Amino acid sequence: MADKIQMKFNGRDLEVEAGTPLIQLSSKLGEKIPHFCYHPGIGVDGNCRLCLVELTGAPKLVPACTLSASEGMEVTTNSEKVLKARKGVLEFLLINHPLDCPICDKAGECPLQDYTRDYGPAHSRMEDPKNQGVKHKDLGEFIVYDSERCVLCTRCVRFQRDVVGREELLVRHRGDRSRVDLFEDHLLTGSFTGNLADLCPVGALTTRPFRFQARPWEMKKVESHCTACSLHCRAATWWKNDELLRLTPLSDASVNAWWLCDRGRFGSLLEESETRSEMRREGESVPVSASDAFERAKELLLKSGKRSAILAGSRATVEELDAIAKLQRIFRDDLSPFVDLPEERAFLLALEDSDLELKSLSGLDDFDRVVLLGDDPEETHPILSLRLRALPSAILPGGEDLPARLREELSGEDRLLLVLQAPLLRKVLSGKEVLELVAARSGETKVLFLQEGMNQRALALAGGQGTPVMEALDQGELDTLLLFGLDPALDFPEAGDWKDRLARAGNLIVQSVGLADHLPSAEVLLPRRASADLEGSLLNGMGKERELKSWQPVAGSRRTDTDWFPVELPQKEEVIG
Ligand code: SF4
Ligand code: SF4
Ligand code: FES
Repeated sequence: MADKIQMKFNGRDLEVEAGTPLIQLSSKLGEKIPHFCYHPGIGVDGNCRLCLVELTGAPKLVPACTLSASEGMEVTTNSEKVLKARKGVLEFLLINHPLDCPICDKAGECPLQDYTRDYGPAHSRMEDPKNQGVKHKDLGEFIVYDSERCVLCTRCVRFQRDVVGREELLVRHRGDRSRVDLFEDHLLTGSFTGNLADLCPVGALTTRPFRFQARPWEMKKVESHCTACSLHCRAATWWKNDELLRLTPLSDASVNAWWLCDRGRFGSLLEESETRSEMRREGESVPVSASDAFERAKELLLKSGKRSAILAGSRATVEELDAIAKLQRIFRDDLSPFVDLPEERAFLLALEDSDLELKSLSGLDDFDRVVLLGDDPEETHPILSLRLRALPSAILPGGEDLPARLREELSGEDRLLLVLQAPLLRKVLSGKEVLELVAARSGETKVLFLQEGMNQRALALAGGQGTPVMEALDQGELDTLLLFGLDPALDFPEAGDWKDRLARAGNLIVQSVGLADHLPSAEVLLPRRASADLEGSLLNGMGKERELKSWQPVAGSRRTDTDWFPVELPQKEEVIG
């Protein structure tokens, strides 16, 4: 634990941890020091000079972003001298600023607006025409730049260079002609460009999907998690009525620090709730009311009795998996109603029993190197690759010689993180082999097991109690099958004949986003929420429980997707009769 020191902040005596960055301390005290170029995730640059404060003993004002709490420090952030300097900095920043807040996407959440109101000059003394800048230039697939609004804080340049490791942006030209630009007009690459718009303190960088969509006060901000992979980065979802317009990161040292990947941020916008309710009449699937579709689904399940089953996938929450287990018991309690992941289950159980599992990404600096087994996590779990960037790494993609190569990589006494992709476990290595090799290592080792599906860990752990439904289906034991919360690409990774196998049930009831079009012969199609609109809990890739929040809490007339289950309706004996 860091030592405590005594200091004075605006005349108040404080005891704080030595080394606390002054800007963070000021926020905690509710006496925020305005700043543009400082960001805790990309560090200090000291270029904007908005954070100037008085430091007793220093002859001139000092940028607060360069200061950390130390013994005997005396800081004043609200003196006349400081306020005058702030006003001067803001006046300079606004000289060529277009003042186009009414049409700027940042309006309403722009620190330049807020600081100008709180500390800036009321009027401009600028009489000459303003510089014309570069307007709406594409910097990448998702990012658009407007140089007139830029305050040249260089957060974007430093993020792309220092955090992502791609030197793709620079400040071009000098003085009042300076602007951010691309090297030789090569567009931004990598998986993290959306963060540039969050980092930009003004409306100079905006994301293409969100530009001009809504004002912050028109949206509802919900603190939840990204569901595009199993890391569950902490994120706010922003809704206008029932439409998801953007995701922004919420800081969480254990997973995403301050960032989101583009796949999660923009990909999540593409997953739309299944709003149709349909049933088959005279061979045609026709739209019906949701209540009629639920009634028909219940009728089919109850009619088939012992020949009914449910198959749940990785897009179901923990609570939904629980409801499904209960529903299955009504019909036949010797079946396991979950996509079966036996290798993964066995590995997870063994990992949970050991003390080898990595529980948080916050301590990655403690490792000397990382060995990655399987696909590059930038493809599958992008935030992990960002957080691992500083560590020396070796990627072993698979192949017959993998066990030998792994054994070689595991030699040595250094502190090592082993990242294992689930598909590899299914195909090449057994979990037992991996754990034996790790246990034999003399150096400290932690294991991170990466499943891809949203709630695949909970799904794998829920299974194993009975015969898998797919087996019963193959044996011709089922007439009616409810498909719930499946992710076809991940839950049926072997592709092959899964559609034909499912169709063997005869009566298919589908309650799953994006599945209906694969199974046009379904008897009933039920509404299903997109993942970002679910409420409930998930287990992330490190076994941590994560809570999903919907824009409209499930209560009163808003029901969960499992409320229609006939669990408490007839007694078991009556159903099976
Ligand atoms: Fe700063 Fe935004 Fe300009 Fe980049 S574009 S330098 S983040 S103001
Ligand atoms: Fe979402 Fe995964 Fe990307 Fe995090 S790493 S933002 S959970 S897709
Ligand atoms: Fe300190 Fe910019 S935040 S100089």
